[in-house]
Amino acid sequence: MTLLRYLPLLLVLGTAGPAAAQPKSEPADYLLPDETKMTPFKDRVPLLFVTRNQPEWNKLNAFWNDSTEDTIDPDTGAKVTRKAVKIKVPFGLTTAPPIPAENPMTVEKWVLGKKLYYDGILSTDGTVSCASCHSPDKGFGDGKKSSTGIGGNLGPINSPTVFNSAYNRLQFWDGRAVTLEDQSQGPVGNNLEMFGGKNDAWAEAIARIRSNPEYVKAFLAVFGHAPTRDAAAKAIATYERTVLLGTGIQDRAEAVMRKRVTDEESGKFELKPDDYTNALKAEFATKSAALKDLGLDPDKDGAKAAEFGQRLLNGRTLFFNKARCSNCHTGDTYSDGGFHNLGIGAKDGDLPLSEFGRFARLQTGHKDTALVGAFKTPGLRGLLQTAPYMHSGDDKTLEAVVDFYDRGGNVNPYLSEKMRDTAAEAAYIKARAEGKPVDAAVKVYGPAKKPVIPLKLNLTAQEKADLVLFLKALNGDPLDPLIANPAKFPGK
Ligand code: HEC
Ligand code: HEC
Repeated sequence: MTLLRYLPLLLVLGTAGPAAAQPKSEPADYLLPDETKMTPFKDRVPLLFVTRNQPEWNKLNAFWNDSTEDTIDPDTGAKVTRKAVKIKVPFGLTTAPPIPAENPMTVEKWVLGKKLYYDGILSTDGTVSCASCHSPDKGFGDGKKSSTGIGGNLGPINSPTVFNSAYNRLQFWDGRAVTLEDQSQGPVGNNLEMFGGKNDAWAEAIARIRSNPEYVKAFLAVFGHAPTRDAAAKAIATYERTVLLGTGIQDRAEAVMRKRVTDEESGKFELKPDDYTNALKAEFATKSAALKDLGLDPDKDGAKAAEFGQRLLNGRTLFFNKARCSNCHTGDTYSDGGFHNLGIGAKDGDLPLSEFGRFARLQTGHKDTALVGAFKTPGLRGLLQTAPYMHSGDDKTLEAVVDFYDRGGNVNPYLSEKMRDTAAEAAYIKARAEGKPVDAAVKVYGPAKKPVIPLKLNLTAQEKADLVLFLKALNGDPLDPLIANPAKFPGK
């Protein structure tokens, strides 16, 4: 039946180019489901996130857990016990990623999304997949300054990681997409990424997918209709929502601390050097590979646990105080979800139009000059896997990033207030008004000659090293092979 229905399409595809193959009767963007073609409710396997706040979290040993659920079939009202998969949200991430109501997660949809993610079929010549620029071997980025897409075309901007993108308030460096479903539609039509044709990128991509009987079968089972753009975006987003990274050494030290405070039945939930030291000792006891993140040899460096424990606490204290990183890097993923101008794209104190970032994306009538040159605060988990850094990919090492912040970012007229020494600016303005001498090196802007003075952090060499060590402690354990190995699927 299924095959017969698509036979005309297959024939067309056999004889004509992809553009001509777009079926007239079946639009490529979206279709309504035929429920009789779908996997019946009782056989659908929902993917359920379990977070640390739920008692069963502790009982789950793996990331991916086969389980069952008792539920009600919404159409018949019948009680149903069906298979379910429970995902143990990694330690350190306290909430489940938000899921749009119209795109509930099932294992079948996840499998389809994972296949599409690693398949060149979405690109015109079959050479580029999502994983070309967001590869599990490269921390779900591509390790390059900026991405290379179809035909070797060089893109303008660094490929951000997909790790924890499920938690992003907005997607892309300038926030131009809201959800992962919106985001995943972008690359397919982008001439520097996946599209080498001239007409309608998505119609062509969908025609290619519809010419593959395996995909047609899978889309019917999951969505009750032929492959569409809407359904492909939903499937890919479902896979991406499981690319979750947590469980860094930092998280383990926090767990040690929480247990200590609970056992002592008094005191504040506040980290002490011993919490880090004890967490590190536990890592040495199991010869954990995570120690290598900190430059420690699991076999030989056991005696350094106390020294590194103290340094990690120093690094954390700097992050939250003197170095002011937590002004923008907050919460479970270490991002405020906001946009800030650090001056990454500034040249000689000026910002080219191409570097206007968030401001350029704000709707007309809502432009806010505070967001000129502002880019999204990235999360900070997995940094050891995601170099180079910043939207420009300019910084190759974490040391370079810390040096950048130490000098207060790059001066430009719209440098974020959080990056500026506002007291020094006020003193400059006062001195100038009183006709006193002012520092000639300070850049001034506009008719009012507004001074912009970056806030220097004045970190010592040891402080910089400790701060970098702390960032490395956020790296996290490797992902489950079901997520990170393109060839691995449930039950196989
Ligand atoms: C040719 C390289 C390339 C390909 C192919 C590609 N991407 Fe990207 N991706 C990028 C770049 C570069 C950005 C950042 C663009 C920007 O912000 O303007 C990005 C941004 C993203 C983001 C936003 C992350 C964040 O933190 O804002 C996600 C999620 C993502 N891509 C997923 C995908 C998926 C899914 C596919 C396949 C449908 C895909 N990408 C294909 C290079 C690529
Ligand atoms: C004013 C807000 C703000 C402050 C303060 C801040 N950051 Fe950032 N951080 C950002 C933004 C925004 C970006 C991306 C900037 C860009 O690419 O244009 C970023 C990028 C980064 C990156 C690169 C991540 C990647 O995947 O490319 C690292 C690492 C980082 N910050 C660490 C720190 C550290 C360490 C501190 C403290 C010394 C700090 N940040 C202070 C907002 C901030």
